Amino acid sequence: MVRHLLKVSDFSKEECEKVINKSIEIKNNPKKFSSTLEGETLLMLFEKPSLRTRISFETGMQQLGGHAIFYSIKDSPLGKKENISDTAKVASRFVNIIAARVFKRQDIWDLAKYADVPVINMLDDFAHPCQILGDFQTIKEKKNSSENMKLSYFGDAHNNVTYDLMRMCALFGWRMDVVCPNAPEYSPEQIVLEEISELSKGTGAKIELVHNVLEAARDSDVIYTDSWMSYGIPQEQEEERKKEFMPFQVTSSVMKKAKSDAVFMNCLPAMREYEQTTEVIDGPQSIVFDQAENRLHIQKAIMLFLREKF
Ligand code: CP
Ligand code: NVA
Repeated sequence: MVRHLLKVSDFSKEECEKVINKSIEIKNNPKKFSSTLEGETLLMLFEKPSLRTRISFETGMQQLGGHAIFYSIKDSPLGKKENISDTAKVASRFVNIIAARVFKRQDIWDLAKYADVPVINMLDDFAHPCQILGDFQTIKEKKNSSENMKLSYFGDAHNNVTYDLMRMCALFGWRMDVVCPNAPEYSPEQIVLEEISELSKGTGAKIELVHNVLEAARDSDVIYTDSWMSYGIPQEQEEERKKEFMPFQVTSSVMKKAKSDAVFMNCLPAMREYEQTTEVIDGPQSIVFDQAENRLHIQKAIMLFLREKF
């Protein structure tokens, strides 16, 4: 059966660990993998902008001996003259992997339903699995462990990155405080909370929705934040969102409450003086660029795993 990666919990904890360990191996010895996807093609469908995802997938595929096609959905007949099932079936005749960045989760679910090749979610409104697998690699490298951590997330929690962080913390049995405004439009959806509660059964995870910033930061190993203006949020909401989220900004006072060796993470793109202060993102605890680099390595491992190369 063809496997897909639509959200991080499509993999078991053991599979996540296997992919992360392979990524570390690839990072340490990239040449060894330079022909592992020789002659293979990755199709990358983009409906939203990207810097990291596009460049790292394209570079990664080339470094594995394969070829990547960037395809902007606005240039395609998709949604106008062609439906998703036809797109998935046709693309499956040409390429070995389909990756997509779309606005609506249903679109990537449909791509996966009709494709005969693995589909990778490069970000929708429900998940960002490549990011979170890379982030857990980064945490493992920095902390020399992936056990018994506490991660605190600050800001917009009605959010793809937050959802996959919650899923991954649940799978790994971590503590996670999700610190957001007390309003449904900025909090995780019920369907995600239900999945988290199911995933946490038996793993010892404790994922909580809280509103006290300094209290949440206490004892944290990882302080994480994401954009207040995710792709597609209308510009006219910026002032309102800025007002709502400012109390949840990651400042040096927040970092001081965390463990002394805590790291600061942001999946990027980031706006200084919005979701975090300049001092924090450019400070000594910030690992945002190591985090960005690992997208390259982890995505190579994900592609090899889905193509059953290890
Ligand atoms: N973190 C991330 O996915 O960045 P891009 O939007 O630049 O791809
Ligand atoms: N939540 C952000 C993540 C960007 C990588 C967004 O959807 O834009």
